[in-house]
Formats: sequence, structure tokens, C-alpha cells
Amino acid sequence: MFEFKDATMIYDMDKDDMVYAMKKINLKLPDTGLVGIIGPSGSGKSTLMYTMSTLKKLTEGDILYNGVSIVDINDNKRQHLRRDEFGFVFQRHYLVPYMTAVDNAVLATNASVSESKKKAKKLLLEIGLKEKELNKRPAKLSGGQRQRVAIARAMMNDPKVLFADEPTASLDHENAFLVMKRLKEYSKDRLVIVITHDISIIKDANMIVEIWDGEVSNVKENA
Ligand SMILES: Nc1ncnc2c1ncn2[C@@H]1O[C@H](COP(=O)(O)OP(=O)(O)OP(=O)(O)O)[C@@H](O)[C@H]1O
Ligand SMILES: [Mg+2]
Repeated sequence: MFEFKDATMIYDMDKDDMVYAMKKINLKLPDTGLVGIIGPSGSGKSTLMYTMSTLKKLTEGDILYNGVSIVDINDNKRQHLRRDEFGFVFQRHYLVPYMTAVDNAVLATNASVSESKKKAKKLLLEIGLKEKELNKRPAKLSGGQRQRVAIARAMMNDPKVLFADEPTASLDHENAFLVMKRLKEYSKDRLVIVITHDISIIKDANMIVEIWDGEVSNVKENA
């Protein structure tokens, strides 16, 4: 589904201290399943997610999604991919402060309000929020609860690809494990990409890609 061809991303091209965040990455990802991306801080994991989801454009090389290059696609197609095919959980979960957990989850959907609310509640409960937390605003939720709202929000449109950047960073081990179990289940009929520093949370991944200083240093399949 995703194919990287010498994918290269350089930040600050015009400056003396250019940063090679991705160096000629060649990689193929499966259509479905859980893929873990692991590597130290600054190794290029978020950049990899941004470029493959069209949020950032490669400097050189190509990334194909279902056989089609996503590097030079037009704005309409890019918008279609982001809105209808991809779901995002960002490293910092950007929830709307004055909206409840349910309303934050509903935010990006195009279905009817009552239907979406029902679905949002179901997803939030499945990911471990309690009934009494559903109508709280982010300020009244813990970091881990907010993180789970962001995950439920990313699931609202039934994306074909779910990108999750450090989705368990604010969770204790037990809750991280529960969230990963849910994401693993969710990956049965779609691609779920989880970025993490913590190898223990992606031990059940179908594929583990190790990133080191902008390069893929190792790929383990069916790990
Ligand atoms: N907007 C930017 N402008 C310039 N350099 C950047 C930018 N974003 C990231 N970088 C640099 O690119 C490299 C890769 O960054 P990236 O955020 O992809 O790493 P990461 O693996 O996600 O790190 P972390 O685990 O800390 O989130 C780093 O050296 C970083 O300093
Ligand atoms: Mg990152």
C-alpha cells in the first residue's frame, strides 16, 4: 500500500545547518496490520509520518500510496486522502479546549450529529474512558484520557490508515497495553502505524521498522 522510493526529507535547505531527517528511505508497508516505527528522539519518526500522510512534502524521492505518488498530487486529492482515508493521532493531541470529550471526537466527521455522537461514545468507552468522563472538557481530563480522546477521534471516519505518533506516551503501562490491544484489533482490516520509543508496546506488531538518524536500520516482519 505504501512504498517509499529513496524518500528524502531535508529541513532548512537554505541554511548552513541542513537537517537530513529522512535519508533515501526504501520501504514497503502492508495493506493491513499493525506497523511499529521505533527509534530514538530526533531520528525522523514524526517526519516519516508527516511525509507519508501528505502533511509534509519530500525533498527528494517518492512515496506511493496504492501505486500512486502522493508527492505531487493536487490539493483536492490530498484533501480527500487526509479526510477520508487517513486518521491522525498527533504527538501532542490537539483537542479543542472548550469542547467535551464526545464533541472533540465528533469534530471531524461528516455523518449526522446524533449518529456521530453515538459512535464517538462507543469508541471512547472501548478505548477505556468512563461514562462520567464523556462530557468532560480536556482541562478536566488526565493526559492519558486526553490521549484516548484523540485516538477515538482518529477512528471516527473509519480510516483505511491510522497514524498514531506516540499514542501511549501519557499512559501507565497497564493502560498503554489496553490501548495497544485495541489498536491491534483495529488493524485487522486496516493499516495502523504506531510511532514509539518504547519497544514493549509494539511487541505484537506485524512489522517493526527501526529508524536511526533518518535511515531505516532494521525491518522485522511478523515480529
Ligand atoms: N520543522 C522542522 N524544521 C527543522 N528541523 C526539523 C523540523 N522538524 C524536525 N526537524 C529535525 O528533523 C529531525 C527529525 O525530527 P522528527 O521530529 O522527525 O524526529 P522524531 O523521531 O519524531 O523525534 P521524537 O521521538 O523526539 O518525536 C530532528 O533532527 C529534528 O531536529
Ligand atoms: Mg516525533
